[in-house]
Amino acid sequence: MSEHPSNGPRPLLPGQVKSWLGVVAFVLVAVAVLAYAFVAVRPTNNSDLDRRVAQKALRADTESKAKALITTPAKNADGTYRLPVADAMAVIAANPKVLSELRKPVAAEAAAPAAAFVKADDEQMKRGLAVYSRTCIACHQPTGKGLAPVFPSIAATPIVNGDASLPIKFILHGLMGPITVDGVTYNSMMPPVAGVSDQDIADVLTYVRQSFGNKSNAVTADQVKAVRAANAARTAPWNTAELGLK
Ligand code: HEC
Repeated sequence: MSEHPSNGPRPLLPGQVKSWLGVVAFVLVAVAVLAYAFVAVRPTNNSDLDRRVAQKALRADTESKAKALITTPAKNADGTYRLPVADAMAVIAANPKVLSELRKPVAAEAAAPAAAFVKADDEQMKRGLAVYSRTCIACHQPTGKGLAPVFPSIAATPIVNGDASLPIKFILHGLMGPITVDGVTYNSMMPPVAGVSDQDIADVLTYVRQSFGNKSNAVTADQVKAVRAANAARTAPWNTAELGLK
């Protein structure tokens, strides 16, 4: 009598051994998976720790840089902050909160106090009227309103009330080229005004800038002197295009 049944092939491994092998294989696979997960996920070494410390330091550093930039910002014309590129990138990387701070438009600067209106004294106004009557009145008329469409108004125009160096230039050297005043386009020429001193020009412009309802600052002989000196070599009249006038 045999121990084994004779009616079938003998199994390669006994059933008991087979199930042990299954357990061992399962354990091996489980260990491999756990080991992989452990290696992949845990902070493996000091360099990882170092990286975190470095990141923290970078964050603190960029934050303080960003704060410094906020308190003393360099500004673009449109009111946004100008950051050195590297700093901006560090700020972005390190602290999105700071970034959103930086995106806020700069609070409008406290408006510079308007330059105090310098009213001309009566003497200067009298002298100015005298020069006006002698050198401008024939064309621009006693009212300052000119004679459209030949002579433009100078009663209350942007040029008259703007930077005085512009009209000083015309008076010294003349003006030609197309210019639109109060909706009328002139393409004519104002000749240079002859025989006027620096003081005369200061007085007549002061008169115009403080008559006809205008309230622009008085002009000084020194202002005229500077414009005259800066254009001493000039002989041709100014062209409106050259002065950016339309
Ligand atoms: C001979 C005529 C004539 C005289 C004199 C004259 N102007 Fe003019 N003025 C003109 C003309 C014409 C223009 C327009 C020129 C153009 O078409 O480019 C002009 C333009 C101007 C402008 C710029 C345009 C505007 O309306 O704002 C001013 C400012 C001005 N004159 C001021 C004066 C003053 C101040 C005097 C006297 C010191 C004077 N002019 C004397 C004819 C004259």
